[in-house]
Amino acid sequence: MRKLQAPRGTLDVLPKDARRRLELVATAGEVLGRAGYEPMETPVFEDTEVFARGVGESTDIVQKEMFTFEDKAGRSLTLRPEATAGICRAYIENGMHKLAQPVKVWCAGPFFRHEAPQAGRFRQFTQIDAEAIGSDDPSLDAELILLLDEIFERAGTGPRRLRLSSLGTRETRADYIEELKNFLRAREGELSEEVSARIDQNPLRAFDADHPGTQAVMKDAPLLLDRLAADDAEHFAAVRALLDAAGLEHQIDPTLVRGLDYYTRTVFEFESERLGAQAALGGGGRYDGLIEELSGPPTPGVGFAAGIERILLAAGEQEAAPQARVFVAIAKPEAAQDAFGLAQRLRGAGMRVELEQAGRSMKGQLKQADRIGASATVILGDTIEVKDMDSGEQREATDANQVLELVREVAGS
Ligand code: HAM
Repeated sequence: MRKLQAPRGTLDVLPKDARRRLELVATAGEVLGRAGYEPMETPVFEDTEVFARGVGESTDIVQKEMFTFEDKAGRSLTLRPEATAGICRAYIENGMHKLAQPVKVWCAGPFFRHEAPQAGRFRQFTQIDAEAIGSDDPSLDAELILLLDEIFERAGTGPRRLRLSSLGTRETRADYIEELKNFLRAREGELSEEVSARIDQNPLRAFDADHPGTQAVMKDAPLLLDRLAADDAEHFAAVRALLDAAGLEHQIDPTLVRGLDYYTRTVFEFESERLGAQAALGGGGRYDGLIEELSGPPTPGVGFAAGIERILLAAGEQEAAPQARVFVAIAKPEAAQDAFGLAQRLRGAGMRVELEQAGRSMKGQLKQADRIGASATVILGDTIEVKDMDSGEQREATDANQVLELVREVAGS
């Protein structure tokens, strides 16, 4: 029979990593919660149009990377490639504009993009995503950037670079795009085939190209940052001033292009040198036209997303926390039932307890107790003994209450 394997670009998360991932999500929830962000969940699949209209028809994500399928009634559905469009769909559908604004939410979960798998790039990956919807105040942009930085710091990602730019409003951008298209058309011969084929669809991508000829051309390209309308430039200056005041270093990078079409004004991305080619730890920006694009009332918004796999990759291996404080060993088969009851009792008292469940010898059981990092082992046989795993000292207990007392003394919990 054929050997079965996980699909290409997906990950089995084994317990050691799964625990770290849960801890990371808990940390993110705590950091975001302190700033008023509430958890929220949306479906893992959506009407394909949510992403086609939200993320944008001309993006790589929509054109090449979506897992799209038809349901039994012939409706086109797509596994979510990102969170923002779905959250905005939900904001509109659930009348969340009636709540106090801005609505601040966050979520964590699986996302899907049909990309070529490589280190740090998967077809199913996990994002922590946060959004503030309903206000265009620049302090929200700065707040989200600082919160994301704090999550990275607490996760131990090490040094990171923050790139920051502003894309202006849709109108400024439209004028600029025309200027850029004309600039690119005049130099078409020097550009890569891919860039020149997409001048009309997505000229901004030219800034992202690896192709040396294209890179040379882009050195002289007009920059959107130099074309911002006065209020957009003011908004951008306010975001930067708040980051400066908070002491968060950032680099203005007018070539920062994000792979999603909904951005207006602020865009940002954090990178880590520890990640190699897929250097982006997380990023985001403002999307003041997205809700309208999805048929809602004009509503500004700003947010970020960061990949859990990349955060943990940058953080590297970390000492695993001990799994259990107490091990219950069985010295004779007749003690098995009492051992089971005692383990339940100790767990009920709030301790992390494992018991012998694999038919090991006493030597094997003590080895297992060491392996799981137990600080106390209770040995049930003709007597009940509590062994301090550090000192090796062993004391006898007469009943369950005394076991609890001795274990508390030894394990410190
Ligand atoms: P994004 O830059 O496409 O933004 O993705 C954010 C993060 O998700 C990336 O920086 C990376 O850490 C992780 N990521 C993306 N694709 C993959 C992949 N194939 N494998 C592993 N990790 C990946 C967004 O998704 C926007 N929705 C962010 C946002 C929220 N903007 C406003 N609000």
